[in-house]
Amino acid sequence: MKIENICCIGAGYVGGPTMAVIAQKCPDIKVTVVDINSDRIAAWNDKNLKNLPVFEPGLDNIVGSCRDKNLFFTTEVDKAIDEAHMIFISVNTPTKTYGKGKGMAADLKYIELCARQIAKVATDDKIVVEKSTLPVRTASAIKSILDNTGSGVKFQILSNPEFLAEGTAIEDLLHPDRVLIGGDTSTKEGNNAMKALVEIYSNWVSQERILTTNVWSSELSKLTANAFLAQRVSSINAMSVICEKTGADVNEVAKAIGMDSRIGPKFLKSSVGFGGSCFQKDILNLVYIAKSYGLNEVADYWEQVIKMNDYQKNRFSDNIVSTLYNTVAGKKIAFFGWAFKKDTNDTRESPAIQVAKNLLNEQAYVEVFDPKVKSEQVFKDINNNNSEDLLKVKKNPYQVADKAHAIAILTEWDEFMDYDWQKIYDSMLKPAFVFDGRGILDTNKLENIGFVCYKIGMG
Ligand code: NAD
Ligand code: UGA
Repeated sequence: MKIENICCIGAGYVGGPTMAVIAQKCPDIKVTVVDINSDRIAAWNDKNLKNLPVFEPGLDNIVGSCRDKNLFFTTEVDKAIDEAHMIFISVNTPTKTYGKGKGMAADLKYIELCARQIAKVATDDKIVVEKSTLPVRTASAIKSILDNTGSGVKFQILSNPEFLAEGTAIEDLLHPDRVLIGGDTSTKEGNNAMKALVEIYSNWVSQERILTTNVWSSELSKLTANAFLAQRVSSINAMSVICEKTGADVNEVAKAIGMDSRIGPKFLKSSVGFGGSCFQKDILNLVYIAKSYGLNEVADYWEQVIKMNDYQKNRFSDNIVSTLYNTVAGKKIAFFGWAFKKDTNDTRESPAIQVAKNLLNEQAYVEVFDPKVKSEQVFKDINNNNSEDLLKVKKNPYQVADKAHAIAILTEWDEFMDYDWQKIYDSMLKPAFVFDGRGILDTNKLENIGFVCYKIGMG
């Protein structure tokens, strides 16, 4: 099957950037991204490319070069499904907040709705691609829904999990370590569907980086990759506490172990904790799957990665309170950064949220500056009316620092390193404290100015 028309359901952090890159690399394919959220679609269509709903370095250029040529954003879901040869499902799969599996299992209601809508609308054969991160064996549920329409339309289900990281999404999509495609390897139709998707990626990804597997391996590999990545962060964060007690320096330890080619240098940056929409959700999902097979030891093993992360976030705020003479009530704590990592406006599960909640609970005044996060988002994340008097968001870091007792670095934005720290010091109450939860500042320089510094993982 020659693919000339693609539809992607879900215009979020994955659907938008992924389809923009496919459109750019495959100018002969018409790519339509659909969403039920009309505000989001309107933002994707905004003439001013600075207003796209997702901030990713390089994304605006790509969208600008393809939009309304072979890349379209629309709320006309049925029409796009009907016209497409291949349909990517890229909707959200959050942790369930109700019923069986509450707080652990992935909520698949959005996925099921997509499958039912495809089943209802499709009049000719389609390839359906799972782009969302899903529990292993979800493809069988999708297939069952699609195969029972009675319309005679034939569907092939592929799993093609996305490995992009936010902040580097475009680089990751243009130069992926690998592309993973799982399908029904036992049938000719299944192999043909996989071949069709391989051909699309072959426009810019070399053959040896395109991996084809059975569907279950592909689904499970995605959860496994995120679990391993998050585990590395929790492992180095566990060492950061020991470093602080013993006088070792976690960055030196990370460098020393990372030079071992079996360990490797990446993902060893100690921090206030990992955030983002996926690590916690995907590990909880893995834990749930393990438990549902009665594999309690396996479940406990992975759950510890999350417990360690919670500990890291809470101990950061505990340390602020104890350092500020055991009370922060009525004291102003300036937050530099709110996004879960630099170069994104995404705040989902950001460690800043938990740290702020803990400090607000102690009746501190928290004032936030983040270069990309809007103030409405910060208030939404805190979602507590009682905090309104205590929480403020400002557009200028120097205003946030003015008359603060302490500054807490919650996101590793590069610009924080270039600020006029003497000016910041002069405007703060003394002693002026800095709590660097990302280990990015030159604390020797700050101490020479007069700051009292805490840096994660430094004794
Ligand atoms: P998102 O919340 O940013 O976007 C999902 C979009 O789907 C929303 O705009 C929502 O309105 C839309 N949607 C939901 N149901 C719909 C329906 N029935 N019809 C049309 N639109 C619908 O989510 P995201 O961050 O893009 O993540 C999507 C999936 O990709 C998740 O499974 C996630 O685990 C996975 N993933 C995310 C990342 C990441 O960096 N964010 C990376 C890899 C994989
Ligand atoms: C992560 C994975 O890296 C992607 O491969 C995956 O596709 C994605 O999840 C997903 O499935 O959603 P992302 O969450 O966007 O990507 O960003 P990461 O770079 O992985 O960072 C996650 C969190 O870990 C951030 O809060 C980051 O600050 C933290 N982190 C990361 C550390 O604290 N130390 C590190 O060394 C690396």
